[in-house]
Amino acid sequence: GAFAGTRLFDQPSPGPIGPGTDLVARTEAARRRSGTVVRRELRAAATEVDLGGRVVRTWAYDGTVPGREIRVRAGDELRVRLVNDLPAETTVHWHGLALRNDMDGVPGLTQDAVAPGAGFDYSFVVPDPGTHWFHPHVGVQLDTGLQAPLIVEDPAEPGGYDMEVVLVLDDWTDGWGDSPETILERMAREGMVMGGTAMDGMGHGGSAMEDTMPSPDRPLGADTGDVAHPAHLINGRLPEDPYVIRSRPGHRVRLRIINAGSDTAYRFAVGGHTLTVTHTDGFPVEPVDVETLIIGMGERYDVVLTAGDGAFPVVAVPEGKDAPSGFALLRTASAHVPVPGASPAELRGRLLTYGALAPTGEVALDPQDPDRELELALQMVDGGRKWFLNGAGFGDHEPLEIRADERVRLVLRNESMMFHPMHVHGHTFALGAGDRPGIRKDTVNVLPMETLTVDLQADNPGQWAVHCHNIYHAELGMTTVLSYV
Ligand code: C2O
Ligand code: CU
Repeated sequence: GAFAGTRLFDQPSPGPIGPGTDLVARTEAARRRSGTVVRRELRAAATEVDLGGRVVRTWAYDGTVPGREIRVRAGDELRVRLVNDLPAETTVHWHGLALRNDMDGVPGLTQDAVAPGAGFDYSFVVPDPGTHWFHPHVGVQLDTGLQAPLIVEDPAEPGGYDMEVVLVLDDWTDGWGDSPETILERMAREGMVMGGTAMDGMGHGGSAMEDTMPSPDRPLGADTGDVAHPAHLINGRLPEDPYVIRSRPGHRVRLRIINAGSDTAYRFAVGGHTLTVTHTDGFPVEPVDVETLIIGMGERYDVVLTAGDGAFPVVAVPEGKDAPSGFALLRTASAHVPVPGASPAELRGRLLTYGALAPTGEVALDPQDPDRELELALQMVDGGRKWFLNGAGFGDHEPLEIRADERVRLVLRNESMMFHPMHVHGHTFALGAGDRPGIRKDTVNVLPMETLTVDLQADNPGQWAVHCHNIYHAELGMTTVLSYV
């Protein structure tokens, strides 16, 4: 099946600020290097994958969903040869990395899209340690299964755990048919696609609109999305045949949790366990204990738990959606195994809020008056046929202009009743504009009608995408460019 290969920035691009510019050369020269080179080949292709009791045909990296993890250390040079065996153009974006601009993978902005049958060599020094991931930046390809973890280890990190596990949460859309664009086209034609009407494959019913208002029971909980995802996966597995974390009683287990869903925020919990939150989007925070947390699309959290004795449900409940939760098992003994769909009490326990978190000293951005303040109004247009920033869709905005070495404040004003996990490429911002340093993140969930402020240091010259990580919103207009001038 051919699909048009729609892409963000389908307009004449100013072109990347390449390594030819002095500013970029200076930034590159200043990067800390380990001297190690890590090489990988990455093949994007149509394939069949087994989700656990169900074989589906989809697009994936190297034949698996999620794709095979890439693991490097901060300062390593990563060289990835992308082989595009898809019937469509593609690219790879390295989500969370403040890398050199011409390797950022945004077609029409930092590179040409890679044609079917062609390849591209990504090569860059990996800056900050943390839990990151990668995916295409073309259309809604991310939602087909093209995504994988990118774990950047910190040689200096003290550790304090016995084992670590990467958990990728993903909303599964059945029934792409031959074209991942089907749902997008339908949204553009009809507005929000609700209640599984677009896909019947997994018998999903009911309306996703019912739970859109925040309430005490759902403190962050608006409906996140537009597209019915009838199933939710943890590490590529359906609840019927879940992914199993095998550990030992008393072991400290670090979970690196990545929300790779295209339009689902998850409420995450592990039955019988408290979660100590240690990192947001890869950056360390002062540890905070919670029972549950909400993870927006594109966000990552690292948590540590001390494994109990038995078998425990690991659940990712789709916020505002009537669908079975993502489900995995933590197992330390051959005890009774909880049934898929188990709803541990922890889901209604202490819920993490951004306000409860503070960055550790070494990653705190000192509060400073901004040199420049840019406001972005997040808007639903025409019943969800379009999603705008400041009254325009991508291609129709002027880029947001900034200068190197400025402190830049972005004011994210959500004027809609959906929530929007806003993502900035090439930078990590500090959340909040107070006199306390805010947590470092690259993706922040802006709740319905809420305004959030983030500050960033303009220290990575180039043309950088800024967009909602609901990939449907991004593709239907909620995308702009931060441009160094
Ligand atoms: Cu993970 Cu531009 O996004
Ligand atoms: Cu959005």
